[in-house]
Amino acid sequence: MKRIVYLLLALALIPVALCAQENNLHHQSSTYQWPTDPQVKDKLDNWQDQKFGVLIHWGLYAVPGIIESWQICSEPWIERDSTMTYDEYKKWYWDFSKVFNPVKFNPEQWAQAAKDAGMKYVVFTTKHHDGFCMFDTKQTDFKITNGPFASNPRADVAKYVFHAFRDQGFMIGAYFSKPDWHSQDFWWSKYATPDRNTNYDIRKYPWKWNRFKQFTYNQISELMNNYGSIDLLWLDGGWVRPLETVTDEVRSWGAAIPAWNQEVDIPRIAAMARKAQPGLLVVDRTVAGPYENYQTPEQTIPDKALDHPWESCITLGNAWGWVPNEQYKSPTKVIHKLIEIVAKGGSLLLGVGPRADGTVELAEVKILKQIGDWMKINGQAIYGTRISSVLRDGNTFFTQSKDGKTQYALVCLPEGQSVPKTVEWKGNLPKKGAKMILISSGTKVKWTVVGNTVKVTLPASFSKKGEYPALAFAF
Ligand code: GLC
Repeated sequence: MKRIVYLLLALALIPVALCAQENNLHHQSSTYQWPTDPQVKDKLDNWQDQKFGVLIHWGLYAVPGIIESWQICSEPWIERDSTMTYDEYKKWYWDFSKVFNPVKFNPEQWAQAAKDAGMKYVVFTTKHHDGFCMFDTKQTDFKITNGPFASNPRADVAKYVFHAFRDQGFMIGAYFSKPDWHSQDFWWSKYATPDRNTNYDIRKYPWKWNRFKQFTYNQISELMNNYGSIDLLWLDGGWVRPLETVTDEVRSWGAAIPAWNQEVDIPRIAAMARKAQPGLLVVDRTVAGPYENYQTPEQTIPDKALDHPWESCITLGNAWGWVPNEQYKSPTKVIHKLIEIVAKGGSLLLGVGPRADGTVELAEVKILKQIGDWMKINGQAIYGTRISSVLRDGNTFFTQSKDGKTQYALVCLPEGQSVPKTVEWKGNLPKKGAKMILISSGTKVKWTVVGNTVKVTLPASFSKKGEYPALAFAF
C-alpha cells in the first residue's frame, strides 16, 4: 500500500519536475535574419562546417556540485536545502568564491578529450548568471583571479582554456551571461530577489541600469580585447532583452517578464566586439534579429530541417555543470542525436562540466573518446555537409556534401543490437550504376533498388563487428 502511495506521489511529481526543467530552457526563435557583413557571413559558413562543439560550464557551482547558478534564484520551481533561509543560502553560495581553488586545473585535458570526441569548437562560461567571473575582469572582485587561486600562474582561467583549445585547432566561443545576480546594479540588496530579472524598477532608477549596461560593455570589451582571437560570443539569459522584443511567443515560454525595459544595448556591444574581432558571430539567444547569428534550441532537436544556422545545446549528463553521480548519455545516443541534428542542418553543442578541482571526470572522457572513435572514421558524412533534399526515412538520415555531388545516408542502428547483414531505406536512392561506399570501412557495397527502396548488403566482415552506433554510406 505504502509503495503504491509513493509510486502515485512520484508519478504526480513528474509533470512538476518536467515543468521545472522547462523553466530555464531557451527556446528556438521562429524567425531568422541572415547577417550582411561579409566577414560574419564567411565565419558563419565556416562555423556551419564544424557541426560538433563542446559547451563547458565551470564556475562556483562546481564546488558543491549543484545546478549552475539557478539555486540562488528564488523562482518557485527551484528546490533548495530547507534548513537554510534564503539569505543564508545565498551567502553560503557566494562564499564558495573563498574556497574555489582548482589546483588541478587542466584545460589541456579538456581540449584533448574534446578533440578525441571529434569536436571542433568550444564555448566556455566566462561568466554565468551568478556573476562569478572566470576571467580577470577589472569591473568586479568577484572573480577567480581574486580568491585562493589568485596566486596560481594560470589564475586567469579563460585565457588558458581558450589557449588550450586554440592549440587543438578549435573555433573559440565565449559564453557570457547578460544577467548578473551578484551585481548590485542587477540584484540590488535594497530589495528582495524574487526572480531572474532585475529586482528594482529600471524606470525609477535609470542611472543604476545605465551603470549595469556600462559594466556589461566593459566586461565584454575585456574579453574581446585581452583573450586572443575569439570566433563567437554566446550571450545567455535571453530574458535580458529589449521590451519591444517580448512577443507573444516569448511570453508563451513562461519566464517572468518585467514591466520595464531590460536591455543592455547589444548593437553597441556587438559593434565594439566586432572591431576587436572582425567577423565575430554574436549569438544573442532568442532575441531574433541581426545579433542572433544562429539559433540555439536547448535540450531539444527541431522537428524539421532548417536551412538557416542553428545549434542544439544538449548536456552529456543531465546538468550543465558537474554534479555527483551524474547519469551520462551513451556514446550511441549522442551519435544518433548528432546525426539527426546535422541532417536537419544544425550543429550539436554538447555540455560537459569539469569538477571543482579543474579536471573532467574520466567517465566522461571515456564516452567522448567512444564518440570520437566513430567520428574519426565516419566524419565525412557529418563535417562540412549540408541538408539533403530528403531528410530521413525512419532511423536513416541524409546529408550531402557542400557541392551537392555526394549524398550520404546515415543509418542509426538500435543500441544493443549487432550490425545486420543488410540495411534498406526509402526515398533517397542512388542513381543507376552509382558506386556506393561504406564509409567506415572504405569498401564498395552491393545495392539493389526495388521500387522506392534501396537494399544494401554489408561486407561480411563488417557484419561480424557486433554493436555499432550507425552506418554511413556515400553515393
Ligand atoms: C539556460 C540555463 C543556463 C545554461 C544555459 C545553457 O540558459 O538557464 O543556466 O547555462 O541554458 O544552454
